[in-house]
Amino acid sequence: MSEPVRFLTSFAQSVATMALYGPSHPARTRAVDASYRLLRDLQAHDAQPEFSFLGDEVVYGQRPLRDMRDWEWGARLAAAGVQRLEFATDVTRDEFEAFVEGIVSRLALPMTDSSQMRPAGPRASGAIRFGAIGIRGENRFASFVPEVSLPTTRLTYELSEEVATVEWMHDQVKAREELPLLEAESVVRSLAVAMHGDQEMLLPLLTLREFDEYTTTHSLNVSVLTMALAEAMGMGARDVRAFGVAGLLHDLGKTRVPLEVLNKPGRLTDDERVVIQNHTVEGARIILESDRDLDLAAAVAYEHHIMIDGGGYPHRRIARKCHCASTLVHVCDVYDALRTHRPYRVAWETTAVLDYIEQGAGTDFDPEIARTFVELMRRMEGRIEHASLADLRAGVQAAAPATSP
Ligand SMILES: [Fe+2]
Ligand SMILES: [Fe+2]
Repeated sequence: MSEPVRFLTSFAQSVATMALYGPSHPARTRAVDASYRLLRDLQAHDAQPEFSFLGDEVVYGQRPLRDMRDWEWGARLAAAGVQRLEFATDVTRDEFEAFVEGIVSRLALPMTDSSQMRPAGPRASGAIRFGAIGIRGENRFASFVPEVSLPTTRLTYELSEEVATVEWMHDQVKAREELPLLEAESVVRSLAVAMHGDQEMLLPLLTLREFDEYTTTHSLNVSVLTMALAEAMGMGARDVRAFGVAGLLHDLGKTRVPLEVLNKPGRLTDDERVVIQNHTVEGARIILESDRDLDLAAAVAYEHHIMIDGGGYPHRRIARKCHCASTLVHVCDVYDALRTHRPYRVAWETTAVLDYIEQGAGTDFDPEIARTFVELMRRMEGRIEHASLADLRAGVQAAAPATSP
């Protein structure tokens, strides 16, 4: 991988990490340190590196970076007004960090009320310049519209937005309103972005603090895990995202199960078990009623508790192979459920969960999928960033209101 590519992927990783964590989280410093180091490495050969983000193309100097074609962050940066980016020779680490923070705010702009933004003051340092590319100029890379100064407000571009969206989506479904599909897809896109700032994948997983938050944290986690697994199985970006949506919606039927049954500490009665198990059929029905095109998500909602040997639920009179998305979600679902505290049992250690999945290969789980998942999670050790919903909310509160430099 070339130096510019390495730097850009690490830079995006920093933006994703800042967006995910509150101001004092050590992951932020680590991420900024790493990308600043890569910037300095790059500057050893090219003192004033310049990048342009044009549609699906990323250009370094005048040279398109083939490895970065269709890089989601390129389009994101361009949409946020950063079509061109230049670094001066003497850029300091602090300037770089402030710049990354500014980018996080800019990325929040389309999702926030921009009238709330404070007008940004000029930056003391001109070490990093960015802005839009003029389209009428003769040389499209040189016609730089006036430099945009960095906004210093830190808005709520955090996964807390996604959490709030999922909570709202569940409320909508509970209230028998329409399933907000576009919002579900945008949550999955944000998760994919948060996972992919770096050349190496990162897993942003939520930790449960309140039992009532289970369906929300679990849905987001299963979506992240399913996308990671789909990617590890070699699937393309579009399929990965479709699987991510299916992971996000797999337990939608649980929104119709009373919380006292869902969180019951003791043994379930037969009736309660029927109600819980029915979340599969109910989930598939809600999804299909909302959008016929979501048949993959509906299949997953229906099948994700079915074992490879035909066991599990719902019971089918004629056994047939489940959709491969369902078998992926099944593994991720069990992994996330077992490593989480529930009112009726304590959380398992990750190693015990992975052993369990390994042992269940061939009976509960598809052997190849189980093996890939276990390998993936062992490889990812150390690259799983945990945050609770409370952490995310605290991060947002700590970051607001806007501060001046
Ligand atoms: Fe389920
Ligand atoms: Fe689940």
